[in-house]
Amino acid sequence: MTHGFDTLQVHAGARPDPATGARQVPIYQTTAYVFRDADHAAALFNLQEVGYIYSRLTNPTVSALQERIATLEGGAGAVCCASGHAAQIMALFPLMGPGLNIVASTRAYGGTITQFSQTIKRFGWSCTFVDFDDLDAVEAAIDENTRAVFCETIANPGGYVTDLDAIAAIADRAGLPLIVDNTSATPYLCRPIEHGATLVVHSMTKYLTGNGTVTGGCVVDSGKFDWSASDKFPSLAAPEPAYHGLKFHETFGALAFTFHSIAIGLRDLGMTLNPQAAHYTLMGIETLSLRMQKHVENAGRVAAWLENHPAVEQVTYAGLPSSPYNDRLARICPNGAGALFTVTLKSGYEGCVKFVEALEIFSHVANLGDTRSLVIHSASTTHRQLSEEQQVAAGAAPNVVRISIGIEDPEDLIADLDQALRASM
Ligand SMILES: Cc1ncc(COP(=O)(O)O)c(C=O)c1O
Repeated sequence: MTHGFDTLQVHAGARPDPATGARQVPIYQTTAYVFRDADHAAALFNLQEVGYIYSRLTNPTVSALQERIATLEGGAGAVCCASGHAAQIMALFPLMGPGLNIVASTRAYGGTITQFSQTIKRFGWSCTFVDFDDLDAVEAAIDENTRAVFCETIANPGGYVTDLDAIAAIADRAGLPLIVDNTSATPYLCRPIEHGATLVVHSMTKYLTGNGTVTGGCVVDSGKFDWSASDKFPSLAAPEPAYHGLKFHETFGALAFTFHSIAIGLRDLGMTLNPQAAHYTLMGIETLSLRMQKHVENAGRVAAWLENHPAVEQVTYAGLPSSPYNDRLARICPNGAGALFTVTLKSGYEGCVKFVEALEIFSHVANLGDTRSLVIHSASTTHRQLSEEQQVAAGAAPNVVRISIGIEDPEDLIADLDQALRASM
């Protein structure tokens, strides 16, 4: 029997606790698990039997969350980890090696641009950034050392919608996995695997948890990529010395990436999600569709009002009839354009600072995807490590403010924006 999204967001991955009957998923606050006997321990360590050894690798509360997110995304498996940024490293780790590169969209979260342009160099990896609206440029950027293509569904901060089908076709022709950061869209608005994504990454810190209490991340594997089709992915296709020559793809099939991420990624990188955080995220996901509907409805009203305000030069919300992305939105995110967009103020950098400081309901914070409405001046905060050229390419120019619309009364949000815009002029 298949179930609808609203049913799955409450039930997937969860069942009454076998020991106590507890209906809600318990927080298994334990580091280790008692082995039945020495043979059981050996089978677990050899990956011959699936079970719990040590919470750096697996934990029942975290497992329930992994199953829930994999189900909502339509994936074969998922691995949770300590943050969205950890998820990006976990996604790349089995694919990459010194001298190899990825091709990523210029329109991405500023922290991602820094992670990919600076930090991954320390592993000997590199990234070529391309405008993902220029499909020829994406294709041309791929070379024999490329191992993945990376983009966001609804890009932070500008709310730009990526043509996932077109990018997936390019990745496919090159025999490469497409990794999609689905943080701003969530599986309620878009299921990237249905548009050809191989892996989906999340910052669960945002809409999945939904209330600003957790830092967490997740990598979902579609289970559809043939890691053995070329010699490009030896970590997944070739014998693994740390497990007596076991071949992950041959042994685990559609779950190869997930097993590798747990048995090698979490084991050795240790970017583990704690069970308490998993519990908060499970609670949040139970109301994901309800929150996203209200986020989208509020964002549409607020963006339309802002677009007509005399202090405003431009609003990037893809849900506005004036957006160039209407057709793409209907295809990629049929349930709406999310609640994240930018506003360009006529009053420039100084006006943006005054605007952000005058807001009362909106909080000035480095976060998004909260029930509360949030605002940030990206150029002076999240995107300040970038050059002005990179800021503009990422949709975070100095006269631009990023807005994350919450689930409050839209009339109150509009009144707050109105008084702050007047103060900014
Ligand atoms: C789209 C997107 N991806 C990834 C991240 C990184 O997530 P985290 O802060 O959980 O590491 C963020 C954080 O803002 C984000 O907005």
